[in-house]
Amino acid sequence: MSVQIIELPPPRYDGASSVEAALRERCSVREYTDEPLTLAEISQLLWAAQGVTHGSGRTAPSAGALFPLEVYVVAVRVDGLAPGLYKYRIGDHELLELARENVHPDLTAAALSQECVRDAAAVIAIGAVVERTATKYGGRAERYVDMEVGAAAQNVSLQVAALGLGAVFVGAFNDARLKKLLCMGKREAALALLPVGRPRVA
Ligand SMILES: Cc1cc2nc3c(=O)[nH]c(=O)nc-3n(C[C@H](O)[C@H](O)[C@H](O)COP(=O)(O)O)c2cc1C
Repeated sequence: MSVQIIELPPPRYDGASSVEAALRERCSVREYTDEPLTLAEISQLLWAAQGVTHGSGRTAPSAGALFPLEVYVVAVRVDGLAPGLYKYRIGDHELLELARENVHPDLTAAALSQECVRDAAAVIAIGAVVERTATKYGGRAERYVDMEVGAAAQNVSLQVAALGLGAVFVGAFNDARLKKLLCMGKREAALALLPVGRPRVA
């Protein structure tokens, strides 16, 4: 089977919301409607997580510019994207299809059956290859990688707020199960999930 690459719409560098408004709006949203997300929204969220900015810079800082993070998306209901698992190819701003089958039930189970994961239209996952950072920073690498995951997740959370979407930072999951499901290599660890959808307003 040939490798499937999905070109993402280019990210927007402006928007209707100010940073201040997004900061004020950000909060954990765990209930979503059944409406799909658009590919443009997914593109924007992935770019916010780790996209390229100027030169080799990214939207989030990285210790020694060693960039240990990897970003994935599980599409559940996304217009223009078949349900499945994709890896964000940061440099080319495109998606690499890793699995076309519906991995969402397994993902929900790996996330301890949390309803926010079960009901999401898409779930962004952040992983890291700590070794990339350890080559320079040795024993401080894990700490640096955790800091970087926090920065990337906050970027996503603010972009979510700016787009009027809802998401929550999820840290409770089965590490081994999630790593396997995301088809991660031996040296990579799964560190965060961000289920996303259109907020269900009570
Ligand atoms: C490291 C971390 C892990 C978290 N894990 C989960 C989780 O597994 N499930 C969940 O529903 N919320 C999780 N949260 C979200 C927190 O519960 C939430 O941020 C907190 O209640 C404050 O609410 P706010 O985000 O609306 O300000 C996590 C937050 C952080 C920072």
